Amino acid sequence: MIAARPKSEEIYAASLKRMPGGVNSPVRAFKGFDMTPMVVERGKGDTIWDVDGNAYIDYCLSWGPLILGHAHPAVVKRACEQMERGSSFGIATPYEFLLAEKINAHLPTMEKLRFVSSGSEATMSAIRLARGFTGRNTLVKFSGHYHGHSDCLLIQAGSGVTHLPKATSKGIPDSVIQHTVCLPFNDLAACRSYIRNHPDIAAVILEPVAGNMGVVPAEQEFVDMLREETAACGALLIFDEVITGFRVGLRGAQEYYRIKPDLTCLGKVIGGGYPVAAFGGRKEIMDMIAPLGAVYQGGTLSGNPVAMCAGLETLSHVEQEGFYENLEKKTRLLTDPIEHYLEQNNVPALLTRVGSMFTLFFGVTEVKGREDLAQLDEAKFKGFFQYLFERGIYAPPSAYEAWFVSSAHTEENLLYTRDTVLAFLKNQC
Ligand SMILES: Cc1ncc(COP(=O)(O)O)c(C=O)c1O
Repeated sequence: MIAARPKSEEIYAASLKRMPGGVNSPVRAFKGFDMTPMVVERGKGDTIWDVDGNAYIDYCLSWGPLILGHAHPAVVKRACEQMERGSSFGIATPYEFLLAEKINAHLPTMEKLRFVSSGSEATMSAIRLARGFTGRNTLVKFSGHYHGHSDCLLIQAGSGVTHLPKATSKGIPDSVIQHTVCLPFNDLAACRSYIRNHPDIAAVILEPVAGNMGVVPAEQEFVDMLREETAACGALLIFDEVITGFRVGLRGAQEYYRIKPDLTCLGKVIGGGYPVAAFGGRKEIMDMIAPLGAVYQGGTLSGNPVAMCAGLETLSHVEQEGFYENLEKKTRLLTDPIEHYLEQNNVPALLTRVGSMFTLFFGVTEVKGREDLAQLDEAKFKGFFQYLFERGIYAPPSAYEAWFVSSAHTEENLLYTRDTVLAFLKNQC
């Protein structure tokens, strides 16, 4: 059991005086959980230690990037070697090209790409580009899908913003979101009809496997329809693979669904825990970006060499034969018995999983879109999160998030987690 956390409490109380909510990204604040947020000191493999010395098996993994676990020795070595040679130049380096080549080898739809430092920048830039390329304004997104915090995308946007009012944030003028339309995910008829009747659509953006309302995969017919209809009306299809890229498989969700998006956004795993994201796609679209074209996009730290080297090293591991098969096997060691238990015992809960990302929803038994989460039992999730936390397991601190498994998770820790989750289900559901 986790011992007391006096140092965490002290640091968090001090942080509250200097930073809004004591954090630099909202979900870290454990809002509504009635407990002091985690203040972490270090991580290694599948484990993180708080400043009080308590250890936790980590299934948040920095919200997905750490597919090799914390402080993987080869990634640390490669990043440190580059740091010795200089941390940033604001000039081209060979590593950007090498990482772009590697990404293109696995995601050939990204004929050309540009690196940025966050997923929010990637989606924001992809949308500007889609609008510039098509000469149209309307952007279609889906409810419960989160694409970062840029103004025009922050509508009905999932996990961190679930509790905020409609537009999903104050400070966004109506004139900015008037061109963004939010449709119900996986509602084939409604979405087809909308696209057919609106010729001003510049782009349709989606998380092909939604991760920000918990794991909710698109249905195959739904993405097939989006591909057909966008192609027919000249709108661009943007796959936001910030989570799924190099997570659900070496070729991402686009291989899983056998779809060729016009543009793809990546982040998280491609930086192996360092700030890297990217957007890319068809050559003639990408060539509209400055300096070649008239769509402006740039960044002081874009293509940062330390982050590029960490990304290169990370991808060289996930490329190895059997990596994703092993990762899925590890994940199923944990999730299969839970799924089985839920089925056998008629528990009002649902486990959804694609590869090594999964969510355990309480209070619902079928989820196709955000609308199905109206009955989500957040109070039960709160109890579940605390139960795990007290037993040294760190789940993502929101009922609307994905859990991630890394190649560093040990069998022993996965089985311990399985038993702890099952004990909760048996005693408290
Ligand atoms: C699918 C998706 N797109 C975009 C983003 C934004 O990425 P970032 O937090 O790096 O800005 C996220 C972040 O979680 C995400 O999950």
